[in-house]
Amino acid sequence: MDRTTCARIAKLYDSRLQRGYVMGKLANDPVYAATVAAIADTQLPLLDLGCGIGLLGQYLSAEGHRQPYVGLDHDERKIAAAQRAAQRAGLNATMTLRHADAAELPALHGHVALLDVLHYLPAERQPALLQAAIRHLAPQGCLIIRNVLREPNWRFHVTRLGEFFLRTSGWIPDGAQHYPTAGELRVPLENAGLDVRIEPLRGRTPFNSYLIVARALS
Ligand SMILES: C[S@@+](CC[C@H](N)C(=O)[O-])C[C@H]1O[C@@H](n2cnc3c(N)ncnc32)[C@H](O)[C@@H]1O
Repeated sequence: MDRTTCARIAKLYDSRLQRGYVMGKLANDPVYAATVAAIADTQLPLLDLGCGIGLLGQYLSAEGHRQPYVGLDHDERKIAAAQRAAQRAGLNATMTLRHADAAELPALHGHVALLDVLHYLPAERQPALLQAAIRHLAPQGCLIIRNVLREPNWRFHVTRLGEFFLRTSGWIPDGAQHYPTAGELRVPLENAGLDVRIEPLRGRTPFNSYLIVARALS
């Protein structure tokens, strides 16, 4: 995404801190472009679980997507910021933003995104959320997960340090609960009959982040 578009989206948010964060995220994090690529050539709604301040919805809209986008987050302040930004952008017709737990999925089938969210749920809740996400996929739908995976490498340790600062700064008050291994994600998705691709997606960060894309076998 070009810097002018990033700046236009950043201006939709209230504080200078938030605008700086939005600018940096949109300009540098490859996860939004990877999501656009994964859902290319389909006309399905997208359910964004743990949507934060709604950046994926803004990105999709800037890329010309007009399908409904429904974002859920349990952080009331982030959802309020996402709603204000959507309203300022005139996207009320396509973007719906709800204050809800990721487990409270609306009756919608399409694509499902879980971007940097899963590790904030305790280990025992993650399989149930994955199953719920799978149930909300349309036949041509795609499940897009970006997450740090538990691996014995320096990137994983740097990630844990980064998460410590996110928790102590109050940006993610409850902090990380459980980092899944690749197998914890791959096995249930493949057991559901999905084709699963896992590849590193770190951008310029030192974090141990991966993109996991799962879709029905063709
Ligand atoms: C690192 S942010 C990612 C935001 C967004 N997915 C993105 O990539 O731009 C993680 C988000 O997950 C949300 N979250 C964590 N646990 C959640 C839960 N159980 N239900 C809903 N949202 C949750 C947090 O409030 C936070 O906004």
